[in-house]
Amino acid sequence: MKQLVIQAFGDAEQLVLTESTSPALAANEMRVKMHYAGVNPVDAKTRAGLGWGAEAIKDSLPWSPGLEVMGTVLEVGSEVNIHHVGDRVFGLLAGAGYSEQLVVAANTLLRVPKAVSDEMAAGLSLAGITAWQGLTEHGLLKAGERVLISAAAGGVGHLAVQLAKDLGATVVALASPVNHDFLHNLGADEVLDYRDEQQLAALAPVDLLLDLVGGASGQALLAQVKPEGRVVTVPTITAKEVIAAAESQGLSATGMLKHNDNQQLASLVTAVAERRLRVEVSQIYSLAEGADAHRQIETGHTRGKILLQG
Ligand SMILES: NC(=O)c1ccc[n+]([C@@H]2O[C@H](COP(=O)([O-])OP(=O)(O)OC[C@H]3O[C@@H](n4cnc5c(N)ncnc54)[C@H](OP(=O)(O)O)[C@@H]3O)[C@@H](O)[C@H]2O)c1
Repeated sequence: MKQLVIQAFGDAEQLVLTESTSPALAANEMRVKMHYAGVNPVDAKTRAGLGWGAEAIKDSLPWSPGLEVMGTVLEVGSEVNIHHVGDRVFGLLAGAGYSEQLVVAANTLLRVPKAVSDEMAAGLSLAGITAWQGLTEHGLLKAGERVLISAAAGGVGHLAVQLAKDLGATVVALASPVNHDFLHNLGADEVLDYRDEQQLAALAPVDLLLDLVGGASGQALLAQVKPEGRVVTVPTITAKEVIAAAESQGLSATGMLKHNDNQQLASLVTAVAERRLRVEVSQIYSLAEGADAHRQIETGHTRGKILLQG
């Protein structure tokens, strides 16, 4: 089977398509034909040798990225009864999603409901769970509150906009003008260009800032938060500096690292099946085009999600 791997940290060219054998199954495992793997900024950061992801794998190269997939079950181990051959499954992985086939513990992945497309299931897991945990577990967002979401048109942001609306919040979304109609259509109440300082300064203060950009952007947006407001800064690499700046202004601030929770994922995919949540897939690449997909995610201007096709 084909798999995209890196032998060393570096630019997108480090991603090379290799041929490897799919391992034998343990009793609790299943073999899955990957149809689509989500491409996330963390894949590219880890490939480049940055952040917690690179720290975790630096002594075990070669490494294959890919933290979320959708596929079909090809074979199950002798003790597996929660999934069957032919089932459509999706969910979060520890890595190696950029592979034609995967061997995973059967309880890692969830069934895809009939009403959910392969593509939406593939793009939901990582961004969806991050958006949900950022808004609720860390942000403690309540109905009636105002939430400011930066990078609102991106993978996490476009799902956070919809989830925050569903929770009864007023959503203020930041994006380039080209994405404003997209965000209004997803339910955002106010949509602003993050480069327009005058418009930003005139914004009514918010209860919660979901900072999806971090660094200088995250720090600049602290001025829009109510004195008793809350800040969740999602990019881990700049979290310390944003939290320190927020706390120096008397705000309550936290970083986060998403954790896998299949109950939350089940609720999210039900929301997709019930048309309360939509996963925007803006582009699909072949496995052989993995480097192009990484160059796209590294532009920082991807709308919704991009996928690799297995
Ligand atoms: N801690 C965790 O557990 C966790 C989990 C998931 C993601 N993350 C991190 O969270 C961040 C967002 O992830 P993602 O998947 O949503 O990324 P993404 O899809 O690559 O985000 C792209 C979006 O960022 C927007 N953007 C770029 N610069 C901006 C700025 N200065 N102000 C406002 N928006 C800006 C772009 O908007 P326009 O095109 O409209 O300009 C684009 O729509 C990444 O840093 C990622 O690594 C962390």
